[in-house]
Amino acid sequence: MNVLVVGGAGYIGSHCVRQLTAAGHRPVVADNLVFGHRAAVAEDVPFYSVNLGNESEIGKILRKEKIELVMHFAAYAYVGESVTDPLKYYFNNVAAPLHLLRCMIGSGVKKFVFSSSCATYGIPATMPITEADPQSPINPYGQTKLDVENALKAFAVAYGLSFAAFRYFNAAGAAEDGGIGEDHTPETHLIPLAIDAAAGRRPPLQVFGNDYPTPDGTCLRDYVHVDDLSRAHIAVFEKLTTPGTQLFYNLGTGTPTSVLEVIRAVEKITGKPVPHAFAPRRAGDPPALYADSSKAQRELGWTIQFPDIESIVATAWKWHESRPGGFKP
Ligand code: UFG
Repeated sequence: MNVLVVGGAGYIGSHCVRQLTAAGHRPVVADNLVFGHRAAVAEDVPFYSVNLGNESEIGKILRKEKIELVMHFAAYAYVGESVTDPLKYYFNNVAAPLHLLRCMIGSGVKKFVFSSSCATYGIPATMPITEADPQSPINPYGQTKLDVENALKAFAVAYGLSFAAFRYFNAAGAAEDGGIGEDHTPETHLIPLAIDAAAGRRPPLQVFGNDYPTPDGTCLRDYVHVDDLSRAHIAVFEKLTTPGTQLFYNLGTGTPTSVLEVIRAVEKITGKPVPHAFAPRRAGDPPALYADSSKAQRELGWTIQFPDIESIVATAWKWHESRPGGFKP
């Protein structure tokens, strides 16, 4: 299929572009390069530097490239910033996708894959989290993802849009060949910060809270490899042929891993200590978030190729070791 990948130069989008090519599809990337990296996308993939709000430009791309399905990865994802500057998040994460969707529907492109988040669940009452659990976000970032999910439901009914919304847990790792990986500015995610602390490129890691009601007192998260995530996006294509299809899937390994366990995995893989110190809890961090992804496994035949934290960290380390400056030369 001809697939427009919006945000295809970002962390998860760029891995999905590679997986699309590997699976025999034809990705086309649209990315305004605010956070994306041109170098994260192969030269031979058609690339448009464009804003989603520009419906006439997006419409031209849909027609020119004969797009059959659109994937959306172009969200802002700093939870703390979404609290202090929610307008930025509502404009980019809600208004911009609405422009894109209006343009798609007007052009007759009615298949959509949306990157949603476990942040839509807020602080769940039970674990692991299933797709049927209540969605009650505790920050504007999670709310913007839920708002788009709800818009998609209405568009499926009214316009025959077929969509899948994937609720990611903690995306992590890098391409196995080390060619692309995580490069955020600023970087806030645990694994790249721990690797950089081990390599001496950043100050000691701060462990945000060691008084949580968890086995070692630090937060539990469900780290899922970015290529495993990407493969689910492609496995869903055949489910989107019936107009009005609505699909929701959690994507995680289901294994809760604590911050201290991540540190130990980084130490084992890099062979270096991770200097770290305990710090106060970070506002808005739920104690534990991990997924029941059995629905994706059952319905999409989704398999997890990186089931444990060490195999995920090993790919991240390969990327950070070979490209300490990320995509910068
Ligand atoms: N952590 C530290 N020190 C750090 C960074 C993180 O202790 O310097 C801890 C956090 O407190 C948390 C865990 O490591 O317990 C993971 O933190 P990340 O920032 O790597 O990831 P989050 O779980 O906060 O965020 C992820 C996605 C977000 C999404 C969120 C939903 O990156 O996009 O899950 O809860 F919104």
